[in-house]
Amino acid sequence: MRILLTGRTGQVGAELVSALAPIGDVLALDRNALDLTDAAAIRRVVREARPGIIVNAAAYTAVDRAESEPELAMAINGAAPGVPAAEALRVNALLVHYSTSSPNTHCNPVTFFHTHRRTARCRPLQRTPRSALR
Ligand SMILES: NC(=O)c1ccc[n+]([C@@H]2O[C@H](COP(=O)([O-])OP(=O)(O)OC[C@H]3O[C@@H](n4cnc5c(N)ncnc54)[C@H](OP(=O)(O)O)[C@@H]3O)[C@@H](O)[C@H]2O)c1
Repeated sequence: MRILLTGRTGQVGAELVSALAPIGDVLALDRNALDLTDAAAIRRVVREARPGIIVNAAAYTAVDRAESEPELAMAINGAAPGVPAAEALRVNALLVHYSTSSPNTHCNPVTFFHTHRRTARCRPLQRTPRSALR
């Protein structure tokens, strides 16, 4: 089974490259190979790879900069996860999305950082039946 992994250069993604290897053929992409702000590129990569599992470990994690880069933060954490979610539905793949480690703030955000995390978690990802939030 092919596993499409985003965020391979991150803390989580780097661990997942080896952790997922026993499960399947891991196609691990960095930002140069797939920029999550490019929805057309996400669709193209998923449609070409036809993965059985999509693991999204890429994220905007610069908490301190999120207030000064709201568009970028929202594009990566709020809007982008909806694209692989829709593509997972389309190719009947399982979607695993890594989100923030503070779940209590997801749907009642107190900071802008948690507002855009909520956008992904509380909308498109919840409509994807074969999905897991970590
Ligand atoms: N680390 C933990 O213990 C932990 C615990 C719970 C949940 N999480 C969640 O897991 C996710 C990843 O966390 P992390 O600690 O691995 O973060 P990280 O080390 O900051 O890694 C973030 C990854 O996202 C990539 N990325 C950022 N913007 C991108 C874009 N526009 N297109 C494609 N890739 C992009 C980065 O690529 P570049 O290297 O090019 O910047 C990097 O590979 C986050 O959602 C985080 O909240 C992490």
